[in-house]
Amino acid sequence: MKSIGDDQQRSETVPCAQPTAGTTIVVRGSGPLSGRVEVPGAKNSVLKLMATTILCDGRHEISNVPDIVDVAIMGDLLAAIGVEMTRPESGRIELHNTGRIVPVAPYELVERIRASINVLGPLLTRCGEVRLSMPGGDDFGARPIDMHIAGLEAMGAEFKFSHGYLEARCERLHGADIVLEFPSVGATENLMTAAVLATGVTTIDNCAREPEITDLCEFLVAMGADIEGIGTSTLTITGVEQHDLRPVTHRTVPDRIQAATYLAACAVAGGELDVVGARADHMTMLLDRFGDMGLRITPTDDGINVVAAQRCRSIDIATLPYPGIATDYKPLIITMLAVADGVGVVTENLYPGRFRYVEELQRLGADVRTTGHHAVVRGVPRLSGAPVKAHDIRAGAAMVVAGLAADGQTTISGVHHIDRGYDDLVGRLRSVGADIERR
Ligand code: EPU
Repeated sequence: MKSIGDDQQRSETVPCAQPTAGTTIVVRGSGPLSGRVEVPGAKNSVLKLMATTILCDGRHEISNVPDIVDVAIMGDLLAAIGVEMTRPESGRIELHNTGRIVPVAPYELVERIRASINVLGPLLTRCGEVRLSMPGGDDFGARPIDMHIAGLEAMGAEFKFSHGYLEARCERLHGADIVLEFPSVGATENLMTAAVLATGVTTIDNCAREPEITDLCEFLVAMGADIEGIGTSTLTITGVEQHDLRPVTHRTVPDRIQAATYLAACAVAGGELDVVGARADHMTMLLDRFGDMGLRITPTDDGINVVAAQRCRSIDIATLPYPGIATDYKPLIITMLAVADGVGVVTENLYPGRFRYVEELQRLGADVRTTGHHAVVRGVPRLSGAPVKAHDIRAGAAMVVAGLAADGQTTISGVHHIDRGYDDLVGRLRSVGADIERR
């Protein structure tokens, strides 16, 4: 067998449009907001769909693709592996799997994007070997991959770690009964994609069931995979042969976290928005809780209508795997509570370290105290504009939302984090009346 990476190649890609202007976002207290804002496809779905094209040769097409930096980075990673991405028009990408797959994910690309871990399952099951630079943590703490590894070992893979790289080998993977300790999104995705080309039947119990997981299941089924239990917490995958797979044309599910960002913006600035393309059925629990806070939320034919007629009321809230309240909503919720009437306690059950942005909110005058997994938020009527920093994608978006509820000017640096996951947040908010620009 050749050494992994012997014939590593790079293909040209047409990258996604990169953000052009300005390294800061400047927001001034705004409101009421009014109008329609469109929600693009979900980052945390499209990146996984892209990685999954490794399984099957030919030209795949994905639409409703957000124009974000992470898509461009995943495109570069796939080009190094042997799948060429082009972007014929805004919102649509084509992925050409040439069949010459190189099972190596190099450090320079892996360290830039967490979702690079999603090439592990497809590469291993397709090539019988993989060499993957260990993905780093995020600013909100360590992000282990022990469940990915244990599941793949149960399917017959052998792992070793050397010089910062995780190396795995196997003959053909075989089916296994896997029970996840925790419904990890990434582990579910890697095990499910690996099982598609394994021999026999794999069951994954206590799996994640986020809408993005269902989207990936549907993508795989369109590719020719045999998956039962889609949308439930037990997936059963019966392996197929590689020649049974065919290229896929698929539309990505809308981004529920971006949708929530516009709802939160309306909540703190007041007004009425139609969040077009949002799926209320993907956000049921969050929308219920937003209703408890006093927002008037109505699912419409093409999205969600929100009316924020008065200051929100505080609530207590805890993050949980889907269908619970996603951890990615939490910075937005804390920002809403920061200007709500009353005191709210927020409990983080996924990433205990995910409170760093609270220091930034405090710079804006928010009254938030954190201890362990909890934040106690005492609402104040208005925040007060100041320079703040985006520490990660979601925290960055929360700073923008906070700026709408702050007197004077808020200048947000670290905007490259926001660009990783938000497709023209500034333009979209400006189009509904926010006083915001990139500078
Ligand atoms: N975990 C382990 N071992 C594992 C895998 C996970 O201990 O092998 C733990 C994690 O440390 C964490 C929990 O399980 O405490 C959940 O992690 P999960 O694997 O579900 O998260 P992920 O797949 O790494 C995705 C999203 C995150 C989102 C989480 C939770 C992507 C690329 N990332 O991460 O999104 O917060 O699920 O919903 O899909 C973001 O988009 O900004 C973002 C961080």
